[in-house]
Amino acid sequence: MSTAVAISATGLFTPEQSITNEELVASFNAYVAQFNAENAAAIAAGERAALEPSSQEFIEKASGIKARYVIDKTGVLDIQRMRPDIPERANDAPSVMAEIGVAAAKQALARADRKAEHVDAVICAASNMQRAYPAMAIEIQHALGVDGYAFDMNVACSSATFGIQTAADFVRAGHAKSVLVVNPEICSGHLNWRDRDSHFIFGDVATAVLVEAADIAPQGSWAILGTRLKTKFSNNIRNNFGFLNRADPTGIGKTDKLFVQDGRKVFKEVVPMVSDMILSHLSDLGMKPDELRRMWLHQANANMNRLIAARVLGRDATEDESPTVLDEYANTSSAGSIIAFHRHSNDLQTGDRGLICSFGAGYSAGTVFVAKAA
Ligand code: COA
Repeated sequence: MSTAVAISATGLFTPEQSITNEELVASFNAYVAQFNAENAAAIAAGERAALEPSSQEFIEKASGIKARYVIDKTGVLDIQRMRPDIPERANDAPSVMAEIGVAAAKQALARADRKAEHVDAVICAASNMQRAYPAMAIEIQHALGVDGYAFDMNVACSSATFGIQTAADFVRAGHAKSVLVVNPEICSGHLNWRDRDSHFIFGDVATAVLVEAADIAPQGSWAILGTRLKTKFSNNIRNNFGFLNRADPTGIGKTDKLFVQDGRKVFKEVVPMVSDMILSHLSDLGMKPDELRRMWLHQANANMNRLIAARVLGRDATEDESPTVLDEYANTSSAGSIIAFHRHSNDLQTGDRGLICSFGAGYSAGTVFVAKAA
């Protein structure tokens, strides 16, 4: 029999600066007015299309997002720039991704009453890495003072659940007893803030999950009942930035080097894929939907989450059953379901069961069923 695994604790780092929809739309619309004025002749001659303004009402209705935290608000809202100003640091200074990852990781360790020396491995699982190497995870490992091994993995918005299963497998196989999964997501860096269809979607954050052998997990931990991963190729969410090309810093010329999506198709295709996956995993675990006390779903879109939860439960879920953090955090890629779990799990009782679920680019999806331990 393989070792029983638990989530011992989670950690959350939230940037200090936040942008409301009102501020975001005011900046975007000022950019649109400037663009249309500068290109008035070409627009009048029919050579160029005028840009359309964004609207707060649309954003809130289409996504449920009201605000987003960012590492650098000024750079994002400056209409001559419209991207975060995060200066490069010297090689001997901590990188930004590692810094926010460490903050979340330290909180997870403190909440589990665990010291870094007890941790055997660190996985940095996120949708973008600041550099190719050395791995962000190894920098985080070094900053924390963890022995053992560390590596990065990228499964877009599903990075956290893929990281949790990978960590759980290390524990099940006896390679480690305590593994930190860290998800620093600086989504503001790959969002095209000049694109009306998506400029409102993302925010920045870091989360951490401490996955451990159940026999060393602290009181109040979460037994992992089962994990499952799924991928299916799709071009509907894409980012072509890579080491063989250079990102266009203006985000205008080569927008495919930033986040691009066909949101309608994503919505239509991912909702059935994820709800079917949850239902079949539930059934394989011998559970019924009404035995699920709470679902901590990936936070991409409130309407999507409403539909997925309704397909699982056979009725609309309450906010208590499927809490959202989208209003405050927006889509934070892999970190979203972990923020929801971190913020909305303290009230559950011993034996209560829940689901951490991710979905996103790839397509990729992951389910992690948990039960509150004694
Ligand atoms: N302000 C005002 N109007 C806007 C707008 C904005 N910022 N962005 C788009 N619109 C307009 C469009 O031009 C369109 O107008 P039309 O009907 O006259 O053509 C209309 O609003 C609907 O646009 P559409 O893009 O079809 O909206 P939508 O209802 O599909 O919502 C998403 C857009 C992106 C919020 C939604 O498709 C979604 O969330 N999909 C899931 C994607 C996802 O979660 N991806 C994350 C990766 S994990």
